[in-house]
Amino acid sequence: MVFMDKEILEKYKKAGGIAKTVRDEGKAMVKPGVKIIDIAEKIESRTIELGGIPAWPVNISINDIAAHYSPSKDDETEIQEGDVVKLDVGVSIDGYVADTAVTVALSEEDKKLVEASEKALEEAIKLVKPGVDVKKISAKIGEVIESYGFKPITNLTGHGLEQYIIHSEPRISNYKDDYSYILEEGEVIAIEPFVTRGRNYIKEEDETRALIYSLVQEKPCRLREAKEIIKKMSDRQGLPFSDRWVDASGIKLRLALNELSRRECISSYKILRGDSKIAQSEHTILVLDKPVVITR
Ligand code: CO
Repeated sequence: MVFMDKEILEKYKKAGGIAKTVRDEGKAMVKPGVKIIDIAEKIESRTIELGGIPAWPVNISINDIAAHYSPSKDDETEIQEGDVVKLDVGVSIDGYVADTAVTVALSEEDKKLVEASEKALEEAIKLVKPGVDVKKISAKIGEVIESYGFKPITNLTGHGLEQYIIHSEPRISNYKDDYSYILEEGEVIAIEPFVTRGRNYIKEEDETRALIYSLVQEKPCRLREAKEIIKKMSDRQGLPFSDRWVDASGIKLRLALNELSRRECISSYKILRGDSKIAQSEHTILVLDKPVVITR
């Protein structure tokens, strides 16, 4: 049995190498006064330069926002002193996706939050191999986070990855739960501990504030801009996109997105928010006889 086709393995490794590079370049840009749209655009354009495709718009989620914030076209947000800034980057090579995240804490008091998420990730990765129950990995993540006196976010999890599918089985909880799943050789997983001092779960914000979309079906639309979005996003095969990648702007853009949403052509990712600062670290791992962390 071939556990992972050599060509697929190479694509994952290439995606991982690019993801690591652009994540680190983005991380170096995180300073007070920098516009997050500049960081997002830099990471995405470098991804393309290096031969990859952004698997989703870079998520730049600050402080109590856990995930799914990506700057819109007109976003003026600047990084502030003391912010906790999470960059979550995805790179696709023919749908084989590397998923990685890093957190920068701009104040001394929050550096421990970041350390806890990084340490939990590293300890979890040590347990990854074929035949292991993800339950064990989840318990370890929770244990490390709690050893710092912090809490894991319980309703955000690591996940499997398949071609053009960015969240598949198994889920990998960030605390000890009852969900059992034995890892098999050839699977690809992302582990992503989220750490907070506050409430241990996140809530979805109102849908009207969504900033990330995904084309789920192609149907005839009335507005020219809506048709153009379908045409442009069609070859992404469902991978998420940003309004920054669309030619239309202003009211025309809003109307087009509204029509697409009303006709159920697009779905949107709601912003996920806790009630206190949150840190996240993430790597993608190929579950092979010798596991490969492609984003490290
Ligand atoms: Co992920």
